[in-house]
Amino acid sequence: VRPLVIAVDGPAAAGKGTLAKALAAKLGLPYLDTGLLYRAVARRMVNAGLDPAGDASAEAQALQQADLARTDLRVPEIDRGASLVAAQPAVRAALLERQRVFASETGAVVDGRDIGTVVFPDADVKFFITASPRTRALRRHHQVHGGTPLEETALEAAIAEIVARDERDSSRETAPLVQSPDAILIETDALSAAEVLEKACETVARWK
Ligand code: C5P
Repeated sequence: VRPLVIAVDGPAAAGKGTLAKALAAKLGLPYLDTGLLYRAVARRMVNAGLDPAGDASAEAQALQQADLARTDLRVPEIDRGASLVAAQPAVRAALLERQRVFASETGAVVDGRDIGTVVFPDADVKFFITASPRTRALRRHHQVHGGTPLEETALEAAIAEIVARDERDSSRETAPLVQSPDAILIETDALSAAEVLEKACETVARWK
């Protein structure tokens, strides 16, 4: 039997990771966060003193398991750097096989931007998870800063940053962020993480 592959795509901070992790735990599948691959490539560039907008194909090819375990991948500089290296076709090509191999033997829940469209176009179940830029900026702030309140001007800046990244991810030529026609859309603005998981589980149960 072919192992179960579930694709979870969507824009930044929409709740993909939270859902994918919970779904993987529930179904006993491995979880792959593909954003980490692009983040680790960007980190290699920055640490080498290189501009992530420049050719990052050598760094993508040289990526090691240890690069993915770094703790300095979720910082604003790398949010931006990852989306710059991710726009490069050679970087995406270098990372493609790695993502497919990860899921091929055991199945997996895989989150990213192009999982249902490019990496696993024949995934068994595809989700597209989204929320308004404001919701996503607030969630990201709470993830990083806990209960510290966010002033309106800082919130506006965070929203602008998220919109700019989505715009870069959606407008690139190679593997843009786009909802696959066969993906199930879940808008998470008014839902808790538990409610999103419940909806997703209903879909997976129907598929099974
Ligand atoms: O998901 P995360 O925010 O960690 O992804 C960081 C960046 O990596 C995204 O903004 C996007 O540019 C890129 N990415 C991608 N394709 C994926 C996963 C992430 O282009 N499958």
